Formats: sequence, structure tokens, C-alpha cells
Amino acid sequence: MKKGLTALLLAASLFGSLQAAGTDHRSMLMKDMRTMLDAMEQIQRGGLYSSSDDMKTGVKKLQGTLKTLESEDIKWILPKDQVYAYKFAQKTASMLRLYSDDMIASIEAGRMDDALEDYTQLLKQCTSCHIRIRNW
Ligand code: HEC
Repeated sequence: MKKGLTALLLAASLFGSLQAAGTDHRSMLMKDMRTMLDAMEQIQRGGLYSSSDDMKTGVKKLQGTLKTLESEDIKWILPKDQVYAYKFAQKTASMLRLYSDDMIASIEAGRMDDALEDYTQLLKQCTSCHIRIRNW
């Protein structure tokens, strides 16, 4: 009886710490999402004020979060029952990487129309995942 109770308590505390780890992961990812939003705002502001430095800082900030989006950690905020969700996340992450690299190159070459097109493509990745996640 006593042994059973100890096991139960141990299981409960293990479960508790597992749940806490999940919450940590989730809040870390949500923090990355907010950083991405910050980055996108900075890029847009940079574009509107014709400040290529601000734009580049924004792109670098965005790229700083891509590691998480590319890793398995993203699963913490994706719907568990959708295998496709993770594949889709990897795809959008690689598109974000592609267009952000291209954006840096466009800014450095002074091709602002291309940079703007890259920005549109970046934003498309954000919304396409958000829309899908909500539909799933
Ligand atoms: C692979 C999918 C995916 C991509 C790509 C993605 N997000 Fe998210 N985002 C999510 C999920 C999932 C949530 C959480 C939804 C929920 O549970 O409410 C979220 C939430 C957010 C939030 C809300 C954070 C909070 O604190 O509530 C912001 C802001 C955000 N994303 C910004 C962005 C921006 C900006 C981009 C593009 C640069 C982006 N996201 C790309 C999946 C994605």
C-alpha cells in the first residue's frame, strides 16, 4: 500500500515536470513567433523609411529564429495528430530561409523592388501556416 502510494506520487511528480517542460518549450516557441513579428515589422519600417540597414537588421533577426522553426521543436506548437503539419513547417521554414537570403542579396544590390517581392513572399509563409493550423 505504502509502496503503491510512493510510486503514484513519483509518477505524478514526473508527469508534472514533463508538463512543465512542455510549457517551457511552448512559451519559447511563442517567444520566437513574437520575435519573427518584430523582425517583419522592422523590415517593413526599414522599407518605408528607405533604410536598408533597418531592413537588413530585421532580416537577420528573422533568420535568428529559423533554427527553431526548422528543428523538431516546432512540434510543440503544431497539432499532434497531423503528420503533415511537421512536413509543412519544414517547407515553410526553408522558404523563409530562401527568401530572407535573397532579400539580403537584393538589398545589397540596391534592388528594392526585388526586396519588396521577397518581403511579400516571407509574409505569405507566415499567413499560410497560420491559416492551415487554424483549419486543421
Ligand atoms: C510552420 C508554421 C508557422 C509558421 C511558418 C509561422 N508561424 Fe507563427 N504561429 C504558428 C503557430 C502554431 C502559432 C500558435 C497558434 C496558437 O496555438 O494559437 C503561431 C503564433 C504566432 C504568433 C502569436 C504569438 C503569441 O504570443 O500569441 C505570432 C505573432 C506569429 N505566430 C508570428 C509569425 C510570423 C511573423 C511568421 C513569419 C515570419 C510566422 N509566425 C510563421 C505557426 C507558424
